Amino acid sequence: MRILSGIQPSGVLHIGNYFGMMRPAIALQSEGETFYFIADYHALTTLRDPSALRENSRRVALDFLACGLDPERCALFRQSDVPQTTELAWILSTVTPVSRLELAHSYKDKVARGMAANAGLFTYPILMAADILIYDSDAVPVGKDQKQHIEITRDIATRINEAYGESSPDGQIFKLPEPRINPQTETVPGVDGQKMSKSYGNNIDIFGDEKTMRKRVMGIVTDSAAVDAPKDPDKSTILQLYSLFASKEEIRDMRERFQKGGTGYGDFKKQLFEKLWEYFAPMRKRREEIVSDKSYIDKVLKRGAERANQVANQVMKRVRDAVGL
Ligand code: TRP
Repeated sequence: MRILSGIQPSGVLHIGNYFGMMRPAIALQSEGETFYFIADYHALTTLRDPSALRENSRRVALDFLACGLDPERCALFRQSDVPQTTELAWILSTVTPVSRLELAHSYKDKVARGMAANAGLFTYPILMAADILIYDSDAVPVGKDQKQHIEITRDIATRINEAYGESSPDGQIFKLPEPRINPQTETVPGVDGQKMSKSYGNNIDIFGDEKTMRKRVMGIVTDSAAVDAPKDPDKSTILQLYSLFASKEEIRDMRERFQKGGTGYGDFKKQLFEKLWEYFAPMRKRREEIVSDKSYIDKVLKRGAERANQVANQVMKRVRDAVGL
């Protein structure tokens, strides 16, 4: 089974990325052959700073490796190191109805938030379909917000299979990929209680320094219940975040102290910070080791790109033959 996912190098990674995408992706390494890439072509739809793009791409690789990605088991690469993906995107665009793209939530949301409606932003799902189909991917672990993009991918693959499948022995040019959405941690709340997202400015970064992380945690928005007052554990961002890191007993203990009253939000936040800081300690250590080995990341990305190109070249041969190029 081949498992594939991509992450945009749009900035520093936060704990929403960690639980939504990175941790499940790392866990899946034991279930099949994993291909993970840094979606730098996609990032061009919104980022126009070449050195920032280059730097962010390397940093995503670094953070992913620090969090436990094993380059012996997984191909980690840059999307742009497999330029055939854009050729495939072109071919896919010729069977994709404009009306299907007009219905994409992600496009509508981005434009509603003020991003320029460039053609790249509009055809983003086609490039994403190419990313997935060019590796004959079986499973695609993503956050809930990407589910519709996987549906579009399946739709495009079906259209190609219907139009050109006859030429292939099993009637199929492309495999239909399955989305893998982790229901438990699909949304991690940010410091304001909304979904954690860099674009909302409510993120807690994984590898921020101690002072910054503490400040972010202490800034979590709460109601104004007094220290003595009982507090509602079910509406608390603090407890929701704590539950991602703590053991069952620790969670139960914090819930009880919420309900009992007598502990202020500040103390709960401190406890959350301690947990968070401790949780990422081994990853910070690993990150320092990687940083000290100057050529490590380049080597990993190069090897990943070689493996990805092997598969992409085979699939592109099949596609070019099928469509008559
Ligand atoms: N659109 C995804 C996101 O913003 C990133 C992405 C690009 C991706 N291509 C992909 C994810 C292919 C999975 C498979 O998170």
